[in-house]
Amino acid sequence: MQKVEKQELFKQIMGNYPTGVTILTTTDEGGTPLGLTVNSFASVSLEPLMLLWSIDHRVSSLKEFTEGGKFAVHVLAGEQQELCKTFASKVEDRFSACEWKLSDNKLPIIEGAFGVFECKTFKTIEAGDHTVLIGEVTDIQIDPEKEPMLYHRRVFGPVPQEFYLSEVNS
Ligand SMILES: Cc1cc2nc3c(=O)[nH]c(=O)nc-3n(C[C@H](O)[C@H](O)[C@H](O)COP(=O)(O)O)c2cc1C
Repeated sequence: MQKVEKQELFKQIMGNYPTGVTILTTTDEGGTPLGLTVNSFASVSLEPLMLLWSIDHRVSSLKEFTEGGKFAVHVLAGEQQELCKTFASKVEDRFSACEWKLSDNKLPIIEGAFGVFECKTFKTIEAGDHTVLIGEVTDIQIDPEKEPMLYHRRVFGPVPQEFYLSEVNS
């Protein structure tokens, strides 16, 4: 199989793989908040608490994320579709589209997420055209009133009700 063909199949399978959606935030040296939409997020370790995500080398805030030493992961709530789009767009001032504040760790925390992990960077790994960032979790918040967002084939929204119904029936 040709390389291009393999890449197409890779994209097709990954594009069909359902995930949640997160927004990653950090700041630049002057304290300006930076962020982007990410679905490469995954859990790594329970002891100690660790997670990972990967950043494309073309992302404008690559240096701040890979060298800044800390970042926050917002696991988006089902109704945060507009925010998900804004943080994946070329809009410069993404943070004017949301309510946010700096945490004690000086990380920008966006309101309304299902869950937030604040992390210090444990390791960065160069991997092809991306860098994998592994974070050790230092702080966690959850909003039990919210439900997470689901992403599949470029569509995002709340987890469909039938998922909760099958929970009740099992
Ligand atoms: C659902 C979704 C998931 C994404 N996941 C990632 C990801 O895991 N890593 C990444 O670098 N970009 C990811 N992106 C793309 C970035 O959000 C997008 O390119 C963003 O505009 C990059 O920031 P920049 O404009 O500051 O360069 C994703 C976009 C969407 C819509």
